[in-house]
Amino acid sequence: MADPTVLLVDDEAAARRGMLRTLDGESYVLKEASSGEEALSIIENENIDVALLDVNMPGMSGIELLGRLTKLDRAPLVVMVTAYGSESVAVQAWKSGAYDYITKPYDPEELRLTVRRALEKRKLETRVEQLEQVVSEKEGHGMLIGESQSMRKLYSLIERIAPTDVTVLIRGESGTGKELVSRAIHNLSQRQAKPFVSMNCAALLETLVEAELFGHEKGSFTGALSRRDGKFKQADGGTIFLDEIGDMSAQSQAKLLRVLEERSFVRVGGNEDIHVDVRVVSATNQDLQRHIADGTFREDLYFRLKVVELNLPPLRDRLGDIPLLVSHFLKRYNTLHRREIGGVGEKAMDALLAHYWPGNVRELRNVIESAVVLSDGPTIDLEHLPPEFRPEPVSISGSAPSREIPSMDDDRPFQEVKKEFVEAFERDFLTKKLEENDWNVSRTAELLGMHRQSLQQKLKELGIERSK
Ligand SMILES: Nc1ncnc2c1ncn2[C@@H]1O[C@H](COP(=O)(O)OP(=O)(O)OP(=O)(O)O)[C@@H](O)[C@H]1O
Ligand SMILES: [Mg+2]
Repeated sequence: MADPTVLLVDDEAAARRGMLRTLDGESYVLKEASSGEEALSIIENENIDVALLDVNMPGMSGIELLGRLTKLDRAPLVVMVTAYGSESVAVQAWKSGAYDYITKPYDPEELRLTVRRALEKRKLETRVEQLEQVVSEKEGHGMLIGESQSMRKLYSLIERIAPTDVTVLIRGESGTGKELVSRAIHNLSQRQAKPFVSMNCAALLETLVEAELFGHEKGSFTGALSRRDGKFKQADGGTIFLDEIGDMSAQSQAKLLRVLEERSFVRVGGNEDIHVDVRVVSATNQDLQRHIADGTFREDLYFRLKVVELNLPPLRDRLGDIPLLVSHFLKRYNTLHRREIGGVGEKAMDALLAHYWPGNVRELRNVIESAVVLSDGPTIDLEHLPPEFRPEPVSISGSAPSREIPSMDDDRPFQEVKKEFVEAFERDFLTKKLEENDWNVSRTAELLGMHRQSLQQKLKELGIERSK
């Protein structure tokens, strides 16, 4: 394994130098970043094991950066470096997912120890992940958890299409398991011993698309220092996974379409025709039909990609799978964080079952991990869940409880009866939708295709509010 890497993030050069000196001679690679933005770009592109973050930086602060990092799938462990006397910030950081914190001015030995401990932990994490990877590679779709009707249907579809070479488009909201399903398809196919190459289409730089897809000859453009194979060549014999296909630019779409149609290409700057045998699986959380309608996604490419389409159900449509997923993640994070949490209390489970889960399984995974860290008892209880899971008493004030709906026999003027009827409907309907969405106005508005401001206005007019 490559040497572990530690990233020092501080806007002050002198502070970085101090840490460099303190950590010099330890057996890991040290890197520096002078702003939150720079750190984020390094972390997204390289494998950083531990990051030391200064809290106060102009631009993106350490806390903000921490927030961004917790959304990544493979974020480094974070040690916050806070000024003496701001321990409350440190505790806040710890609750937001930081691994540890130290206060400035720090004791050199403490800094060395903290980093060593973090790296130990990271090693363990990596080992668990590798083990899971090995297990899941053996088990095909066994790595997918869920016994609901919709998941069973998905498994049988996967088993049916995996052994064929058919092109598959996977659709589903963020965090529903699209990448996991694409790996399952590969693992259950005859191509499983060959490479599975994944490419994030949203992150492709316009100028490098061709080189990335097809490779390039030495010297074909500035920076092309040697000849390189593109993703399609790397995946020869195996599967290429084109992720976030809905975010691809028009130009990249045209280039991709060409290789899908011809199954052959030339390297940038070359003239030798390269033929490859690659199975294409792609994924998106975007509404491609809408993109096709407004002209931002090519319909011909869409038809190439969606020979078979798999739709992954959002977690809120398979709430019955939550207990299974919870025990799966509990097991995983108990090992990782050396805990022995036995289960989830009744109230906490009710709260998990009542949640809307916009981030789907990934969100559930993160909630369980943070709860495992925060719980010191034998179970996970309500107070270990993020604040939005702790219900506040709900009551509707204003002219509700919903006034009688006027009956057909009402003899008052039509306009008057109609107004009452419509208002009663609006009040009941909006209240129900808000309740379903934990009274999150923005989310409810989006779901209903309304502007947030107009929903808010409506709520005011109808006297709907959630009382604290
Ligand atoms: N059915 C499932 N069983 C177990 N783990 C799952 C399942 N679905 C998703 N996960 C886990 O949830 C996380 C997110 O899954 P994945 O990366 O496959 O989602 P995605 O659909 O590709 O999301 P995005 O659109 O945001 O890229 C991963 O850690 C994955 O292992
Ligand atoms: Mg994904």
